[in-house]
Amino acid sequence: MKPMPIRETPNGSPRESFSTSEPISVVGVCLDDETWTALKQFAESAPLIQLRSHLSDYRVQESESPLDLFGTSVPDICIIDFDRDRRKAGLAAEVIHASAHDTALFAVSSDPQPDFIIQAMRSGCSEYLLKPVGREQLLNAVARVGGRRRERLQPNKAQVYAFMGAKGGCGVTSLVTQLGALFASSFSKKTLVVDLHPDFGDAALYLGLTRYRYHFFELVENTDRLDAELLGSFLAHHSSGLDLIPAPEGNDMPRRIQPGAIAQTFDFLKARYDYILVDMAPGLSDENLEMIRHCDHLHVVTVAEVSALRNAVRHFDYLTRKEIPRERFRVILNRHQKRSLIADNEIEKTIGQRIFWKVPNQYAHVVKAINGGDPIASLSSSDVTKNLKEFASTLGAKPSTGTEKRKEGTGLLGLLGRS
Ligand SMILES: Nc1ncnc2c1ncn2[C@@H]1O[C@H](COP(=O)(O)OP(=O)(O)OP(=O)(O)O)[C@@H](O)[C@H]1O
Ligand SMILES: [Mg+2]
Repeated sequence: MKPMPIRETPNGSPRESFSTSEPISVVGVCLDDETWTALKQFAESAPLIQLRSHLSDYRVQESESPLDLFGTSVPDICIIDFDRDRRKAGLAAEVIHASAHDTALFAVSSDPQPDFIIQAMRSGCSEYLLKPVGREQLLNAVARVGGRRRERLQPNKAQVYAFMGAKGGCGVTSLVTQLGALFASSFSKKTLVVDLHPDFGDAALYLGLTRYRYHFFELVENTDRLDAELLGSFLAHHSSGLDLIPAPEGNDMPRRIQPGAIAQTFDFLKARYDYILVDMAPGLSDENLEMIRHCDHLHVVTVAEVSALRNAVRHFDYLTRKEIPRERFRVILNRHQKRSLIADNEIEKTIGQRIFWKVPNQYAHVVKAINGGDPIASLSSSDVTKNLKEFASTLGAKPSTGTEKRKEGTGLLGLLGRS
């Protein structure tokens, strides 16, 4: 993983983003005298900080529940000194992080080596404070926790629609990118495409957005320090108004995704968008399963071929055994042709489910869109675009009235030079 930027003082006054009625509770772990004294002075001068206790040893037993560790309730912030024993401090951070999801972890240390900072972040710390810890440094870090707490309280509004191929090459990325661009332009909906491929995702390429710095799994690894500012550095913007968080390019280090981290990341994203479309790799990896549990609907994209239909049946059986409700699944038949060797009613009988949507077969147009990096401009009058507009309406989008605020020159009409 590329090291994430360590944030300097955020823009604007930290107090602006630090408004919360409940005091923020803080627990220290193995802090040296100087840091503990600085923390006490800080708490005395900032009434919204409530210093709860100071643990004198690193507790690293995984079996210990957060309440055994912290008493009646988990703190908002736990500040761990990494200088006494870096290994034990990292383990303690991991254990707390795994059991007390809502507690923000701050590392304090006198060593600014990038490797140490990355290790602390990987253990779940959202801040790395350098000694001697100053008031301004603490205020900024605590303000970010307050801001994140406030952001978490915003209502989740986005519909999350996941798309997965019954097998590779069924057209998932083509559909997701075209549909996303239509939601953003023709329907003026705030829309995000997330490419959930563990590597070699194509969504960025299909949208012609090949310059980006970070990918989705880096966002997930940093979910604890996620706020609007950090999210901004992950987004690639398409001219239709669509946002994209791309997949890794494939030369990344192996990743260890904490259970629940994908769901937590989507909870944050849901407060910011109307629609989130997820381009998933085929298969039932742990990441895919977590996504399927967390989405509003899983769209299994298939084609009228025996191998794809057989896989669709296997997927539904497996997911039903995993107690995912059947109503969540929808079947999308891509490359649909009226005179197909396998008739639609035979497909429905085989998969035991109605076909939710059929997308016509129009290879030349889809390939043109992919090659042009613009999924809607060259397709404006095509059957596929007309069909996907109807699909977007079926998914709940109302056509744009033209009065919504939108970026100049974007949108389907804009692309056609008619806006
Ligand atoms: N409606 C369609 N009509 C004709 N061709 C299509 C249609 N949709 C997709 N295709 C073609 O199918 C091929 C595969 O599409 P795409 O890359 O979107 O599939 P995918 O499911 O994302 O594949 P992967 O499993 O590799 O991620 C592309 O060449 C694309 O042009
Ligand atoms: Mg794809």
